[in-house]
Amino acid sequence: MEPPRILVVDDELVIRESLAGWLQRDGYDVKTLESGEEAVQALKTGSFDIILLDIKMDGMSGMEVLAHVKEEYPDIDVIMITAFGSVPSAVQAMKSHAYDYLLKPFDPDELGVLIKKLVDHRARKKENAYLRDTFEEQSRFESMIGQSRPMQEVFTLIRDIGDSRATVLITGETGSGKGLAAKAIHSNSRLKDGPFVAVNCGSIPPHIMESELFGHRKGAFTDARETRKGRLELARGGTLFLDEIGEISMRMQIDLLQVLEDKIFYKVGGTQPISADFRVIAATHADLARAVRDRTFREDLYYRLNVITLDIPPLRDRKEDIPLLAAHFLKKFTQEINQGVERISRDAMDELMLHEWPGNVRELSNAVERAVVVCKTRTITPYDLPIGPSLEDELKKRYFSLSDVEKNHIAATLDRTGWNISKAALILGIDRSTLYNKIKRYGLAQPDRT
Ligand SMILES: Nc1ncnc2c1ncn2[C@@H]1O[C@H](COP(=O)(O)OP(=O)(O)OP(=O)(O)O)[C@@H](O)[C@H]1O
Ligand SMILES: [Mg+2]
Repeated sequence: MEPPRILVVDDELVIRESLAGWLQRDGYDVKTLESGEEAVQALKTGSFDIILLDIKMDGMSGMEVLAHVKEEYPDIDVIMITAFGSVPSAVQAMKSHAYDYLLKPFDPDELGVLIKKLVDHRARKKENAYLRDTFEEQSRFESMIGQSRPMQEVFTLIRDIGDSRATVLITGETGSGKGLAAKAIHSNSRLKDGPFVAVNCGSIPPHIMESELFGHRKGAFTDARETRKGRLELARGGTLFLDEIGEISMRMQIDLLQVLEDKIFYKVGGTQPISADFRVIAATHADLARAVRDRTFREDLYYRLNVITLDIPPLRDRKEDIPLLAAHFLKKFTQEINQGVERISRDAMDELMLHEWPGNVRELSNAVERAVVVCKTRTITPYDLPIGPSLEDELKKRYFSLSDVEKNHIAATLDRTGWNISKAALILGIDRSTLYNKIKRYGLAQPDRT
Protein backbone atom coordinates (compact mmCIF):
# COMPACT_ATOMS: atom_id res chain seq x y z
CA MET A 1 0.00 0.00 0.00
CA GLU A 2 1.19 3.53 -0.77
CA PRO A 3 2.25 5.63 2.22
CA PRO A 4 -0.32 8.29 3.12
CA ARG A 5 0.38 11.68 1.55
CA ILE A 6 0.49 14.55 3.99
CA LEU A 7 0.48 18.25 3.15
CA VAL A 8 1.89 20.65 5.75
CA VAL A 9 0.81 24.30 5.42
CA ASP A 10 2.38 26.81 7.79
CA ASP A 11 3.95 30.24 7.29
CA GLU A 12 6.74 29.52 9.76
CA LEU A 13 9.74 27.76 8.27
CA VAL A 14 10.80 26.09 11.54
CA ILE A 15 7.38 24.52 11.99
CA ARG A 16 7.28 23.24 8.41
CA GLU A 17 10.73 21.78 8.62
CA SER A 18 10.28 20.08 11.97
CA LEU A 19 6.90 18.61 11.12
CA ALA A 20 8.12 17.37 7.75
CA GLY A 21 11.21 15.85 9.33
CA TRP A 22 9.31 13.86 11.90
CA LEU A 23 6.65 12.70 9.48
CA GLN A 24 9.19 11.58 6.88
CA ARG A 25 11.03 9.66 9.55
CA ASP A 26 7.77 7.84 10.27
CA GLY A 27 7.53 6.87 6.60
CA TYR A 28 4.95 9.34 5.31
CA ASP A 29 5.11 11.13 1.99
CA VAL A 30 5.22 14.83 2.91
CA LYS A 31 4.96 18.11 1.03
CA THR A 32 5.24 21.54 2.66
CA LEU A 33 3.76 24.89 1.59
CA GLU A 34 3.81 28.31 3.19
CA SER A 35 0.39 29.82 2.44
CA GLY A 36 -3.27 29.01 2.10
CA GLU A 37 -3.30 30.23 -1.49
CA GLU A 38 -0.50 27.82 -2.43
CA ALA A 39 -2.35 25.03 -0.71
CA VAL A 40 -5.52 25.65 -2.72
CA GLN A 41 -3.44 25.55 -5.91
CA ALA A 42 -1.61 22.38 -4.93
CA LEU A 43 -4.87 20.57 -4.12
CA LYS A 44 -6.01 21.00 -7.71
CA THR A 45 -3.27 18.75 -9.01
CA GLY A 46 -1.91 16.76 -6.11
CA SER A 47 -3.81 14.15 -4.18
CA PHE A 48 -3.41 14.28 -0.41
CA ASP A 49 -4.87 12.20 2.38
CA ILE A 50 -4.16 14.48 5.31
CA ILE A 51 -3.43 18.20 5.71
CA LEU A 52 -1.72 19.77 8.70
CA LEU A 53 -2.91 23.33 8.57
CA ASP A 54 -1.88 26.42 10.52
CA ILE A 55 -4.88 28.37 11.72
CA LYS A 56 -3.20 31.78 11.68
CA MET A 57 -1.57 32.74 8.42
CA ASP A 58 -1.34 35.97 6.47
CA GLY A 59 -3.62 36.09 3.45
CA MET A 60 -5.96 33.15 3.31
CA SER A 61 -6.51 31.91 6.86
CA GLY A 62 -6.45 28.30 7.98
CA MET A 63 -10.17 28.44 8.65
CA GLU A 64 -10.82 29.54 5.06
CA VAL A 65 -8.63 26.77 3.69
CA LEU A 66 -10.43 24.28 5.95
CA ALA A 67 -13.83 25.39 4.63
CA HIS A 68 -12.56 25.06 1.06
CA VAL A 69 -11.15 21.57 1.66
CA LYS A 70 -14.31 20.28 3.35
CA GLU A 71 -16.38 21.65 0.49
CA GLU A 72 -14.24 20.44 -2.40
CA TYR A 73 -12.32 17.45 -1.00
CA PRO A 74 -14.43 15.94 1.78
CA ASP A 75 -12.26 12.81 1.87
CA ILE A 76 -9.19 14.71 3.04
CA ASP A 77 -8.77 14.90 6.82
CA VAL A 78 -7.45 18.15 8.25
CA ILE A 79 -5.54 18.65 11.49
CA MET A 80 -5.27 22.26 12.60
CA ILE A 81 -2.06 23.70 14.02
CA THR A 82 -2.64 26.29 16.65
CA ALA A 83 -0.60 28.34 19.09
CA PHE A 84 -0.98 27.69 22.76
CA GLY A 85 -3.64 30.07 24.00
CA SER A 86 -5.85 30.13 20.94
CA VAL A 87 -7.87 27.08 21.84
CA PRO A 88 -11.23 28.76 21.06
CA SER A 89 -10.30 28.97 17.39
CA ALA A 90 -9.29 25.31 17.51
CA VAL A 91 -12.72 24.47 18.87
CA GLN A 92 -14.24 26.50 16.07
CA ALA A 93 -12.18 24.45 13.61
CA MET A 94 -13.46 21.20 15.11
CA LYS A 95 -16.98 22.42 14.54
CA SER A 96 -16.05 22.98 10.91
CA HIS A 97 -15.08 19.31 10.72
CA ALA A 98 -11.37 19.43 11.28
CA TYR A 99 -10.28 15.98 12.46
CA ASP A 100 -8.30 17.27 15.43
CA TYR A 101 -5.87 20.03 16.40
CA LEU A 102 -2.24 20.19 17.51
CA LEU A 103 -0.96 22.75 19.99
CA LYS A 104 2.36 24.51 19.38
CA PRO A 105 4.97 23.72 20.54
CA PHE A 106 4.63 20.10 19.51
CA ASP A 107 5.62 16.93 21.15
CA PRO A 108 6.84 14.64 18.34
CA ASP A 109 5.47 11.55 20.10
CA GLU A 110 2.06 13.10 20.41
CA LEU A 111 2.18 14.00 16.72
CA GLY A 112 3.17 10.44 15.85
CA VAL A 113 0.31 8.96 17.83
CA LEU A 114 -2.25 11.36 16.40
CA ILE A 115 -1.23 10.73 12.79
CA LYS A 116 -1.13 6.97 13.32
CA LYS A 117 -4.62 7.07 14.81
CA LEU A 118 -5.90 9.08 11.87
CA VAL A 119 -4.26 6.80 9.29
CA ASP A 120 -5.84 3.73 10.94
CA HIS A 121 -9.18 5.48 11.07
CA ARG A 122 -8.96 6.25 7.36
CA ALA A 123 -8.03 2.67 6.52
CA ARG A 124 -11.03 1.34 8.46
CA LYS A 125 -13.35 3.84 6.86
CA LYS A 126 -12.17 2.76 3.42
CA GLU A 127 -12.50 -0.91 4.34
CA ASN A 128 -16.03 -0.42 5.62
CA ALA A 129 -17.05 1.50 2.55
CA TYR A 130 -15.64 -1.29 0.41
CA LEU A 131 -17.37 -4.03 2.39
CA ARG A 132 -20.64 -2.13 2.33
CA ASP A 133 -20.42 -1.64 -1.42
CA THR A 134 -19.62 -5.24 -2.22
CA PHE A 135 -22.19 -6.52 0.24
CA GLU A 136 -24.88 -4.32 -1.26
CA GLU A 137 -23.86 -5.32 -4.72
CA GLN A 138 -24.04 -9.01 -3.89
CA SER A 139 -27.26 -8.87 -1.95
CA ARG A 140 -29.20 -6.94 -4.59
CA PHE A 141 -30.06 -7.67 -8.14
CA GLU A 142 -32.06 -4.98 -9.91
CA SER A 143 -34.75 -4.36 -7.31
CA MET A 144 -34.54 -7.86 -5.88
CA ILE A 145 -32.93 -8.27 -2.49
CA GLY A 146 -31.47 -11.50 -1.20
CA GLN A 147 -28.21 -12.73 0.26
CA SER A 148 -29.33 -16.32 0.74
CA ARG A 149 -27.91 -19.12 -1.37
CA PRO A 150 -31.21 -19.82 -3.15
CA MET A 151 -31.61 -16.17 -4.11
CA GLN A 152 -27.98 -15.92 -5.23
CA GLU A 153 -28.74 -18.85 -7.52
CA VAL A 154 -31.79 -17.03 -8.85
CA PHE A 155 -29.62 -13.98 -9.58
CA THR A 156 -27.02 -16.13 -11.33
CA LEU A 157 -29.60 -17.80 -13.54
CA ILE A 158 -31.10 -14.43 -14.50
CA ARG A 159 -27.61 -13.16 -15.39
CA ASP A 160 -26.84 -16.29 -17.38
CA ILE A 161 -29.94 -16.04 -19.53
CA GLY A 162 -29.34 -12.37 -20.27
CA ASP A 163 -28.47 -12.99 -23.90
CA SER A 164 -31.12 -15.57 -24.54
CA ARG A 165 -34.55 -14.86 -25.96
CA ALA A 166 -35.89 -18.20 -24.81
CA THR A 167 -39.23 -18.34 -23.08
CA VAL A 168 -39.03 -18.43 -19.30
CA LEU A 169 -41.56 -19.92 -16.91
CA ILE A 170 -41.32 -18.43 -13.43
CA THR A 171 -42.84 -20.53 -10.70
CA GLY A 172 -43.20 -19.81 -7.02
CA GLU A 173 -45.71 -19.30 -4.27
CA THR A 174 -47.82 -16.20 -4.05
CA GLY A 175 -45.88 -13.10 -3.00
CA SER A 176 -42.48 -14.70 -3.52
CA GLY A 177 -41.34 -12.15 -6.09
CA LYS A 178 -42.25 -13.62 -9.49
CA GLY A 179 -43.27 -10.25 -10.86
CA LEU A 180 -40.04 -8.69 -9.69
CA ALA A 181 -38.03 -11.52 -11.24
CA ALA A 182 -39.77 -11.04 -14.59
CA LYS A 183 -38.75 -7.38 -14.61
CA ALA A 184 -35.21 -8.29 -13.60
CA ILE A 185 -34.96 -10.74 -16.52
CA HIS A 186 -36.16 -8.06 -18.89
CA SER A 187 -33.80 -5.40 -17.52
CA ASN A 188 -30.91 -7.79 -17.92
CA SER A 189 -31.67 -8.91 -21.44
CA ARG A 190 -30.71 -7.45 -24.76
CA LEU A 191 -34.32 -6.26 -25.00
CA LYS A 192 -33.99 -3.98 -21.98
CA ASP A 193 -34.50 -0.83 -24.04
CA GLY A 194 -37.69 -2.27 -25.49
CA PRO A 195 -41.08 -2.32 -23.72
CA PHE A 196 -42.01 -4.58 -20.82
CA VAL A 197 -45.70 -5.36 -21.16
CA ALA A 198 -47.45 -7.27 -18.39
CA VAL A 199 -50.75 -9.08 -18.78
CA ASN A 200 -52.44 -10.45 -15.69
CA CYS A 201 -54.26 -13.41 -17.16
CA GLY A 202 -56.22 -13.87 -13.95
CA SER A 203 -57.73 -10.42 -13.78
CA ILE A 204 -58.84 -9.78 -17.36
CA PRO A 205 -62.43 -10.96 -18.01
CA PRO A 206 -62.41 -13.84 -20.52
CA HIS A 207 -64.66 -12.12 -23.05
CA ILE A 208 -62.27 -9.21 -23.56
CA MET A 209 -59.07 -11.25 -23.24
CA GLU A 210 -58.79 -11.89 -26.95
CA SER A 211 -59.04 -8.26 -27.98
CA GLU A 212 -56.83 -7.24 -25.02
CA LEU A 213 -54.07 -9.55 -26.23
CA PHE A 214 -54.38 -9.32 -29.98
CA GLY A 215 -56.04 -5.94 -30.45
CA HIS A 216 -58.87 -5.46 -32.90
CA ARG A 217 -59.81 -3.75 -36.09
CA LYS A 218 -62.51 -1.14 -36.18
CA GLY A 219 -65.86 -2.85 -36.61
CA ALA A 220 -64.57 -6.31 -35.72
CA PHE A 221 -67.35 -6.49 -33.13
CA THR A 222 -70.07 -4.17 -31.81
CA ASP A 223 -67.89 -2.29 -29.32
CA ALA A 224 -64.89 -2.01 -31.63
CA ARG A 225 -65.31 1.65 -32.57
CA GLU A 226 -61.61 2.18 -33.20
CA THR A 227 -58.78 0.00 -34.34
CA ARG A 228 -56.73 -0.83 -31.26
CA LYS A 229 -53.38 -2.37 -30.57
CA GLY A 230 -53.32 -5.36 -28.24
CA ARG A 231 -50.70 -6.13 -25.62
CA LEU A 232 -48.83 -8.46 -27.98
CA GLU A 233 -48.33 -5.69 -30.48
CA LEU A 234 -47.32 -3.25 -27.73
CA ALA A 235 -44.70 -5.72 -26.53
CA ARG A 236 -42.93 -5.96 -29.89
CA GLY A 237 -39.19 -5.44 -29.53
CA GLY A 238 -39.45 -6.13 -25.83
CA THR A 239 -40.85 -8.59 -23.31
CA LEU A 240 -44.40 -9.89 -22.94
CA PHE A 241 -45.04 -10.97 -19.36
CA LEU A 242 -47.97 -13.35 -19.00
CA ASP A 243 -48.66 -13.33 -15.28
CA GLU A 244 -50.89 -16.02 -13.73
CA ILE A 245 -50.72 -18.04 -16.94
CA GLY A 246 -52.50 -20.90 -15.15
CA GLU A 247 -55.71 -18.86 -15.20
CA ILE A 248 -55.91 -18.64 -18.96
CA SER A 249 -58.90 -20.23 -20.75
CA MET A 250 -58.56 -23.32 -22.95
CA ARG A 251 -59.46 -21.21 -25.94
CA MET A 252 -56.72 -18.68 -25.21
CA GLN A 253 -54.25 -21.49 -24.63
CA ILE A 254 -54.80 -22.62 -28.19
CA ASP A 255 -54.45 -19.09 -29.55
CA LEU A 256 -51.26 -18.43 -27.61
CA LEU A 257 -49.71 -21.70 -28.64
CA GLN A 258 -50.34 -20.74 -32.23
CA VAL A 259 -48.60 -17.42 -31.76
CA LEU A 260 -45.59 -19.08 -30.17
CA GLU A 261 -45.37 -21.62 -32.99
CA ASP A 262 -46.02 -19.38 -35.98
CA LYS A 263 -44.34 -16.25 -34.56
CA ILE A 264 -47.17 -14.20 -36.06
CA PHE A 265 -50.63 -13.12 -34.96
CA TYR A 266 -53.62 -11.18 -36.23
CA LYS A 267 -55.77 -8.48 -34.73
CA VAL A 268 -59.36 -9.54 -34.09
CA GLY A 269 -61.04 -8.94 -37.42
CA GLY A 270 -57.67 -8.31 -39.05
CA THR A 271 -56.05 -10.05 -42.01
CA GLN A 272 -52.56 -8.52 -41.85
CA PRO A 273 -50.11 -10.82 -40.07
CA ILE A 274 -48.12 -9.07 -37.36
CA SER A 275 -44.81 -10.60 -36.38
CA ALA A 276 -44.55 -11.76 -32.80
CA ASP A 277 -41.07 -10.40 -32.19
CA PHE A 278 -41.11 -10.28 -28.43
CA ARG A 279 -39.79 -12.48 -25.71
CA VAL A 280 -42.32 -14.28 -23.57
CA ILE A 281 -42.01 -14.69 -19.82
CA ALA A 282 -44.84 -16.47 -18.03
CA ALA A 283 -45.44 -16.83 -14.31
CA THR A 284 -47.66 -18.99 -12.19
CA HIS A 285 -48.16 -19.86 -8.55
CA ALA A 286 -50.13 -22.93 -9.59
CA ASP A 287 -48.60 -26.33 -10.20
CA LEU A 288 -48.77 -26.31 -13.99
CA ALA A 289 -47.34 -29.81 -14.36
CA ARG A 290 -50.24 -31.03 -12.32
CA ALA A 291 -52.71 -28.95 -14.33
CA VAL A 292 -51.30 -30.70 -17.40
CA ARG A 293 -51.96 -34.07 -15.75
CA ASP A 294 -55.46 -32.91 -14.86
CA ARG A 295 -55.90 -31.82 -18.48
CA THR A 296 -56.80 -28.24 -17.57
CA PHE A 297 -53.60 -26.94 -19.11
CA ARG A 298 -52.37 -27.95 -22.54
CA GLU A 299 -49.23 -30.02 -22.49
CA ASP A 300 -47.88 -28.55 -25.75
CA LEU A 301 -48.26 -24.99 -24.45
CA TYR A 302 -46.64 -26.00 -21.18
CA TYR A 303 -43.54 -27.26 -23.00
CA ARG A 304 -43.45 -24.16 -25.20
CA LEU A 305 -43.44 -21.89 -22.15
CA ASN A 306 -41.21 -23.99 -19.97
CA VAL A 307 -37.98 -23.73 -21.96
CA ILE A 308 -36.21 -22.21 -18.99
CA THR A 309 -37.70 -22.60 -15.52
CA LEU A 310 -36.98 -20.10 -12.80
CA ASP A 311 -38.27 -21.22 -9.45
CA ILE A 312 -38.45 -18.55 -6.76
CA PRO A 313 -38.06 -20.28 -3.40
CA PRO A 314 -40.57 -19.52 -0.64
CA LEU A 315 -39.36 -17.12 2.04
CA ARG A 316 -39.41 -19.81 4.75
CA ASP A 317 -36.65 -21.62 2.82
CA ARG A 318 -34.40 -18.57 2.82
CA LYS A 319 -34.84 -17.01 6.21
CA GLU A 320 -31.39 -15.39 6.00
CA ASP A 321 -33.03 -12.86 3.69
CA ILE A 322 -35.56 -11.75 6.31
CA PRO A 323 -33.39 -9.20 8.17
CA LEU A 324 -32.28 -7.64 4.90
CA LEU A 325 -35.81 -7.50 3.49
CA ALA A 326 -37.23 -6.21 6.77
CA ALA A 327 -34.65 -3.43 6.85
CA HIS A 328 -35.46 -2.60 3.24
CA PHE A 329 -39.20 -2.36 3.91
CA LEU A 330 -38.61 -0.46 7.15
CA LYS A 331 -36.69 2.18 5.25
CA LYS A 332 -39.31 2.32 2.55
CA PHE A 333 -42.31 2.67 4.85
CA THR A 334 -40.71 5.04 7.35
CA GLN A 335 -40.05 7.35 4.43
CA GLU A 336 -43.59 7.01 3.18
CA ILE A 337 -45.59 6.88 6.40
CA ASN A 338 -43.92 7.39 9.74
CA GLN A 339 -40.54 9.02 9.94
CA GLY A 340 -40.34 8.49 13.68
CA VAL A 341 -39.67 4.76 13.55
CA GLU A 342 -35.98 3.90 13.38
CA ARG A 343 -35.41 0.27 14.11
CA ILE A 344 -36.78 -3.20 14.73
CA SER A 345 -36.11 -4.62 18.18
CA ARG A 346 -34.29 -7.92 18.61
CA ASP A 347 -37.44 -9.60 19.90
CA ALA A 348 -39.45 -8.36 16.97
CA MET A 349 -36.75 -9.59 14.56
CA ASP A 350 -36.84 -12.96 16.32
CA GLU A 351 -40.58 -13.10 15.67
CA LEU A 352 -40.02 -12.27 12.02
CA MET A 353 -37.42 -15.03 11.79
CA LEU A 354 -39.70 -17.59 13.43
CA HIS A 355 -42.77 -16.92 11.33
CA GLU A 356 -43.34 -19.23 8.36
CA TRP A 357 -44.58 -16.54 5.95
CA PRO A 358 -47.22 -18.34 3.86
CA GLY A 359 -47.71 -15.05 1.96
CA ASN A 360 -43.93 -14.77 1.45
CA VAL A 361 -42.23 -11.44 0.79
CA ARG A 362 -45.53 -9.63 0.25
CA GLU A 363 -46.73 -10.74 3.68
CA LEU A 364 -43.46 -9.57 5.24
CA SER A 365 -43.79 -6.23 3.49
CA ASN A 366 -47.37 -5.88 4.78
CA ALA A 367 -46.32 -6.83 8.31
CA VAL A 368 -43.57 -4.20 8.37
CA GLU A 369 -45.89 -1.61 6.87
CA ARG A 370 -48.53 -2.26 9.53
CA ALA A 371 -45.90 -2.18 12.28
CA VAL A 372 -44.65 1.20 11.07
CA VAL A 373 -48.23 2.49 11.14
CA VAL A 374 -49.08 1.27 14.64
CA CYS A 375 -45.68 1.76 16.28
CA LYS A 376 -45.77 4.61 18.76
CA THR A 377 -42.08 4.69 19.63
CA ARG A 378 -38.84 4.68 17.71
CA THR A 379 -38.52 0.91 17.90
CA ILE A 380 -40.80 -1.76 16.47
CA THR A 381 -41.52 -4.41 19.12
CA PRO A 382 -43.35 -7.77 18.84
CA TYR A 383 -46.57 -6.05 19.90
CA ASP A 384 -46.46 -3.94 16.73
CA LEU A 385 -46.38 -7.07 14.60
CA PRO A 386 -49.58 -8.80 13.54
CA ILE A 387 -47.77 -12.12 13.95
CA GLY A 388 -46.27 -11.51 17.36
CA PRO A 389 -47.98 -12.54 20.61
CA SER A 390 -50.90 -10.26 21.41
CA LEU A 391 -51.07 -8.46 24.71
CA GLU A 392 -54.03 -10.64 25.71
CA ASP A 393 -52.08 -13.82 25.01
CA GLU A 394 -49.20 -12.57 27.10
CA LEU A 395 -51.43 -11.61 29.99
CA LYS A 396 -53.26 -14.91 29.88
CA LYS A 397 -49.97 -16.69 30.19
CA ARG A 398 -48.94 -14.71 33.24
CA TYR A 399 -52.25 -14.48 35.11
CA PHE A 400 -55.10 -16.89 35.66
CA SER A 401 -58.72 -16.13 35.05
CA LEU A 402 -61.17 -16.54 37.92
CA SER A 403 -62.52 -19.80 36.53
CA ASP A 404 -58.97 -21.17 36.18
CA VAL A 405 -58.42 -20.44 39.86
CA GLU A 406 -61.73 -22.07 40.82
CA LYS A 407 -61.01 -25.14 38.73
CA ASN A 408 -57.52 -25.60 40.18
CA HIS A 409 -58.76 -25.09 43.71
CA ILE A 410 -61.58 -27.63 43.35
CA ALA A 411 -59.19 -30.15 41.78
CA ALA A 412 -56.70 -29.68 44.60
CA THR A 413 -59.40 -30.05 47.26
CA LEU A 414 -60.76 -33.23 45.68
CA ASP A 415 -57.27 -34.53 45.48
CA ARG A 416 -56.61 -33.91 49.15
CA THR A 417 -59.90 -35.46 50.27
CA GLY A 418 -59.36 -38.47 48.04
CA TRP A 419 -62.43 -37.48 45.99
CA ASN A 420 -64.69 -37.63 49.02
CA ILE A 421 -67.46 -35.43 47.63
CA SER A 422 -69.11 -34.65 50.98
CA LYS A 423 -65.84 -33.64 52.62
CA ALA A 424 -64.74 -31.57 49.64
CA ALA A 425 -68.11 -29.79 49.47
CA LEU A 426 -67.86 -29.01 53.16
CA ILE A 427 -64.36 -27.54 52.80
CA LEU A 428 -65.36 -25.53 49.74
CA GLY A 429 -68.50 -24.25 51.44
CA ILE A 430 -70.89 -25.37 48.71
CA ASP A 431 -73.49 -28.13 48.59
CA ARG A 432 -72.80 -31.46 46.92
CA SER A 433 -74.95 -30.88 43.83
CA THR A 434 -73.11 -27.62 43.11
CA LEU A 435 -69.82 -29.46 43.43
CA TYR A 436 -71.01 -32.18 41.04
CA ASN A 437 -72.01 -29.52 38.54
CA LYS A 438 -68.62 -27.84 38.74
CA ILE A 439 -66.79 -31.15 38.38
CA LYS A 440 -68.76 -31.78 35.23
CA ARG A 441 -68.35 -28.25 33.86
CA TYR A 442 -64.55 -28.26 34.34
CA GLY A 443 -64.25 -31.84 33.12
CA LEU A 444 -62.49 -32.95 36.29
CA ALA A 445 -62.02 -36.67 36.73
CA GLN A 446 -60.84 -38.88 39.50
CA PRO A 447 -57.42 -40.30 38.71
CA ASP A 448 -57.28 -44.08 38.30
CA ARG A 449 -56.24 -45.70 41.51
CA THR A 450 -54.24 -48.78 40.79
N1 LIG B 1 -36.44 -10.31 -3.32
C1 LIG B 1 -37.22 -9.23 -3.11
N2 LIG B 1 -36.68 -8.06 -2.76
C2 LIG B 1 -37.46 -6.97 -2.53
N3 LIG B 1 -38.78 -6.97 -2.63
C3 LIG B 1 -39.38 -8.10 -2.99
C4 LIG B 1 -38.65 -9.29 -3.24
N4 LIG B 1 -39.50 -10.27 -3.58
C5 LIG B 1 -40.73 -9.73 -3.53
N5 LIG B 1 -40.67 -8.42 -3.20
C6 LIG B 1 -41.81 -7.52 -3.01
O1 LIG B 1 -42.88 -8.30 -2.50
C7 LIG B 1 -44.10 -8.02 -3.17
C8 LIG B 1 -44.58 -9.26 -3.89
O2 LIG B 1 -43.73 -9.54 -4.99
P1 LIG B 1 -44.30 -9.98 -6.42
O3 LIG B 1 -45.54 -9.23 -6.75
O4 LIG B 1 -43.18 -9.93 -7.38
O5 LIG B 1 -44.66 -11.48 -6.05
P2 LIG B 1 -45.40 -12.56 -6.95
O6 LIG B 1 -44.66 -13.82 -6.75
O7 LIG B 1 -45.55 -12.05 -8.33
O8 LIG B 1 -46.80 -12.65 -6.21
P3 LIG B 1 -48.22 -13.17 -6.83
O9 LIG B 1 -48.11 -14.66 -7.01
O10 LIG B 1 -49.18 -12.83 -5.73
O11 LIG B 1 -48.42 -12.44 -8.09
C9 LIG B 1 -43.80 -6.87 -4.08
O12 LIG B 1 -44.11 -5.69 -3.41
C10 LIG B 1 -42.32 -6.96 -4.33
O13 LIG B 1 -41.78 -5.72 -4.61
MG1 LIG C 1 -47.22 -11.38 -9.29
